[in-house]
Amino acid sequence: MMLAPFLILAAVVAGTAARYTADWTSLDARPLPSWYDEAKLGIFIHWGVFSVPGFGSEWFWWHWQGQQPPDPKCVDYMRKNYPPGFSYPEFAPQFHAQLFDPDEWADIFKASGAQYVVLTAKHHEGFTNWQSPNSWNWNSVDNGPHRDLVGDLGEAVRKRSLHYGLYNSLYEWFHPLYLNDKKNGFKTQDFVMHKLLPEIYNMVVRYKPEVIWSDGDWEAPDTYWNSTELLAWLYNDSPVRDTVVTNDRWGAGCACKHGGYYNCEDKYTPGQLPKHKWEKCTSVDTLSWGYRRNMKLSELMSLPSIIGDLVQTVALGGNYLLNVGPTPDGMIPVAFEERLRGVGAWLKTNGEAIYASKPWRVQGENSTITVWYTSKGSTVYAFMTVKPPKHTVQLWEPKTSASTKVTLLGNPGPLSWVPLRPTGGLTVQLPDLPDTPAQAWTLKMENVS
Ligand SMILES: *[C@@H]1O[C@H](CO)[C@@H](O)[C@H](O)[C@H]1NC(C)=O
Ligand SMILES: *[C@@H]1O[C@H](CO)[C@@H](O)[C@H](O)[C@H]1NC(C)=O
Repeated sequence: MMLAPFLILAAVVAGTAARYTADWTSLDARPLPSWYDEAKLGIFIHWGVFSVPGFGSEWFWWHWQGQQPPDPKCVDYMRKNYPPGFSYPEFAPQFHAQLFDPDEWADIFKASGAQYVVLTAKHHEGFTNWQSPNSWNWNSVDNGPHRDLVGDLGEAVRKRSLHYGLYNSLYEWFHPLYLNDKKNGFKTQDFVMHKLLPEIYNMVVRYKPEVIWSDGDWEAPDTYWNSTELLAWLYNDSPVRDTVVTNDRWGAGCACKHGGYYNCEDKYTPGQLPKHKWEKCTSVDTLSWGYRRNMKLSELMSLPSIIGDLVQTVALGGNYLLNVGPTPDGMIPVAFEERLRGVGAWLKTNGEAIYASKPWRVQGENSTITVWYTSKGSTVYAFMTVKPPKHTVQLWEPKTSASTKVTLLGNPGPLSWVPLRPTGGLTVQLPDLPDTPAQAWTLKMENVS
């Protein structure tokens, strides 16, 4: 009978111990809220003043006036098409978003099968897509659209039970306080104390984002950004402390090492199963994250290449964050919409092998064709992204038993199979694989090991 009080005491102590301290050992030990790993697919949106010039990429301002020497293509473009002395902030009033219908966007994202949406609240240009009190006249309510883009999209997205996240750039290319701190070798923190931190705290309290997708960290150490203090607040005391996930861009050297899940680098593709939860962010437009008016169809990822990438990412334990860049008037280019709806159509049949799946003992194999695996307990899924040359496929890795059952997702009835070797593997007899736009099919094997 002495056990019960001891257990209560232990629970109280454990409850107290769950506060995080502002250091990486403590913060890195936080378990990732479970919704994130189960979600697998998210939609990334790069939208800002950079969508107005829509030339080259969302880095236009930097390529035109930041880097030395500037990109001659950008300089030429401005000289030919704008009056002398035209400055980048003059693009902001043309960021009209007059056709922006957040419900329409959210319908498309929902139809894609994504479970979360991440919008650029503020990119490196510093323009906030909400009325930040720390971004005077350089925000979407006082300038440009005259609308709370972050709030309006968040409402529409959440109405459809999708999780809502915000991308936030730590650095701002041309902010005078940032440039001054930089000149001081980051020994001063005027930008962080008077701009960055008040703004992020305000943004989190206001919009309660469940993903903080941090970026623009690499020029300065995490101690300059006060990243560990911010994360401790997020995890202990913020309104999203129980559900928020963060990435790993919190200061030079943090990527792939500290934070919540790891992005490592843009479009990161690990060769084998990473030990830590990660996310691959990539873009339907292979050359840009933001909208480009000079985009060509041949520069977009095809639907089969998106599905192949998604499948490989999930097999290797990652989440897939697929980006689209809306136009300055608030439309999602129809080619992007078509890709997203295509992903959703494939997931309608094959999603059972994606959502809430776990990496299997073996993540992939090259047998008859390249195959990627995921699993749910003793059920193993094998993705085929090319049609096997004949109506059979050999899989070397699964160990079958008398009760093993094989089906093709979307196809009624079990498939016949025979063991391949005494020690394991099987040969599956395939039906005609339907010629779908995604060109990817999933075998479901129950009771294998
Ligand atoms: C920033 O970090 C310093 C050093 O750890 C700490 O003293 C200060 O309170 C922090 N400020 C904020 C606003 O987090
Ligand atoms: C299969 O082969 C391809 C190309 O030959 C290779 O890149 C890939 O890593 C192989 N996959 C596995 C799971 O062995």
